[in-house]
Amino acid sequence: DFMREITGLSVLEKQLQDKLHIENVMIVPGDSDQHDWVKKEMGKACISFLGSRFSTNQTIAVTGGTTMAAVADEMTPFEHTSHLFVPARGGIGEKVENQANTIVSKMAVKAKGDYRLLYVPDPLSETSYQTMIKEPSIIEVLQIIKDSDVILHGIGEAITMAKRRKTEESVVQHLEANQAVSEAFGYYFNENGDVVHKVRTIGIHLDDLASIGCVVTIAGGGTKGKAISSYFRQGKSNVLITDEVAAEQILREN
Ligand code: G3H
Repeated sequence: DFMREITGLSVLEKQLQDKLHIENVMIVPGDSDQHDWVKKEMGKACISFLGSRFSTNQTIAVTGGTTMAAVADEMTPFEHTSHLFVPARGGIGEKVENQANTIVSKMAVKAKGDYRLLYVPDPLSETSYQTMIKEPSIIEVLQIIKDSDVILHGIGEAITMAKRRKTEESVVQHLEANQAVSEAFGYYFNENGDVVHKVRTIGIHLDDLASIGCVVTIAGGGTKGKAISSYFRQGKSNVLITDEVAAEQILREN
């Protein structure tokens, strides 16, 4: 629209689309690290994207984090659709308001949809993992998650995320030694987009993304430019919703 034209955001969107080879980019003005309202604007952009793209009920898998929590805060009912929201992966390591289960239930209530939850910690030991994937209630939800139509996910700066999740010191050292710069879905990536560490839990795996129709990435802020570039080196995404400051940084990256 007119405002986007005169502020140059539509030019930036086109440049990012070309640089990241992605179908659709939406940029909101500002820096979400500085102002919470910018994160909320990214949330609104996500909801308007979902509203315009889908006219039938979808299963929507969602990750954790403050950006996804902002999407939930802004959620409103959709016109003719009642979506099913599920957490993308287990994850009880974060503060409750940033956990996928909390976010999913809030989104579903505000969207007048439905939700299913996954009660699985993150990280899981190998023994617990083997036991849990045999639980009938887990198997059932896991199947719904794997069959999702849409996934909404954030991207974090690697070390920030590892510390926020109170990750073991030996793992943090491994991330540093391997120059991890980004995190998404519990996977940590280096600047080439190679996986350098994976948190063991139940839910979506990176390979599953290929069969999910629409992957929506929502991440912005001055501290995340490098992290976003790193994810897009190899990670699948159909839509990027970001802010102006992150967009300018991504364009400056090699
Ligand atoms: O997986 C990505 C992180 O959860 C992003 O967290 O939105 O709070 O920066 P954030």
